Amino acid sequence: MVDLSLKIKDFDLKNPIITASGTYGYNNEFDDFCEVNKLGAVVTKGITLEPRLGNEGERIFETYGGMINRIGLENVGIQAFLDEKLPVLQKCNINFILNIAGNTVEDYIKLAKIAQENDIKAIELNVSCPNVKCGCIEFGVNKQALYELVSIVRKNYDNCLIVKLSPNVTSAEDLATAVQSAGADAVSAINTVRGMGVKLDFINGGFKKTTVSGGLSGKAIKPVALSFIDRISKVIDIPIIAIGGICTLADVLEFFSVGAKAVQIGTANFTHPDIAEKLINDLEKFMLENNFSTLDDLQKKIQKS
Ligand SMILES: Cc1cc2nc3c(=O)[nH]c(=O)nc-3n(C[C@H](O)[C@H](O)[C@H](O)COP(=O)(O)O)c2cc1C
Repeated sequence: MVDLSLKIKDFDLKNPIITASGTYGYNNEFDDFCEVNKLGAVVTKGITLEPRLGNEGERIFETYGGMINRIGLENVGIQAFLDEKLPVLQKCNINFILNIAGNTVEDYIKLAKIAQENDIKAIELNVSCPNVKCGCIEFGVNKQALYELVSIVRKNYDNCLIVKLSPNVTSAEDLATAVQSAGADAVSAINTVRGMGVKLDFINGGFKKTTVSGGLSGKAIKPVALSFIDRISKVIDIPIIAIGGICTLADVLEFFSVGAKAVQIGTANFTHPDIAEKLINDLEKFMLENNFSTLDDLQKKIQKS
């Protein structure tokens, strides 16, 4: 038997494989493909105080090794989450992290208080969505604003506080350090990379151009994520959850080697909806075959490489 479990503050995960916000629904939508309650955790779609319809027009653009999205935080809002989604998570015994986003500091405080009142064991602050006109991205790129936001959320929320960082910044190290100093329990990174897709059609002697500007995700961003994690792991001690183009066991091990304690799987869920469970099985098999009895043993050895 191998022990894949880990703990972030008081938040227990059976294994380090988590599904990323916005790519796995709210609760058990992937039940037909995967035993969702076997996952380390599911991160919910980003939740705001009020329901949001998201952006109008083209919202998805398929591109080399990934996709660009400009969904714009379409979500049911916190009340519907509590009334309709939370009971399913609880009934199905799914370990989850509530991803929250807001336009103002007050929005984040209110959401953190609601999470605390409802005894939600872990939240992930989205301070980094590139697809909304105002709000969370502004916190994610400014070290002082981020420090103040995380500090005040910390005062209002005692359980596991994870802050999700944007790659669209000049100094990853400064932002990660600010988040740690403000009292976060872990950092997750990266959110999507700002990108643009252009589709040109030549019709009746003229060009018709369609563009989608938004967040690039999938295999194409893995090198950006590896570099980001590698840099922040040198300046912070709190656990890092890696995100960005992860699809295979080799990807998971590479992220462990640069300092990640757990990983999130995003875009790969769309093409391989059973991928997260497969990665748990692959990791367990690798550890069994190579005599690693705990995740910690594996991560220590791989980080020395
Ligand atoms: C369609 C879509 C919706 C997303 N929605 C959210 C969201 O609501 N909140 C959030 O923090 N990240 C969101 N993300 C970002 C992912 O959680 C993840 O950070 C990013 O896609 C990189 O991981 P990947 O390359 O494995 O997809 C979304 C990504 C996609 C593709």
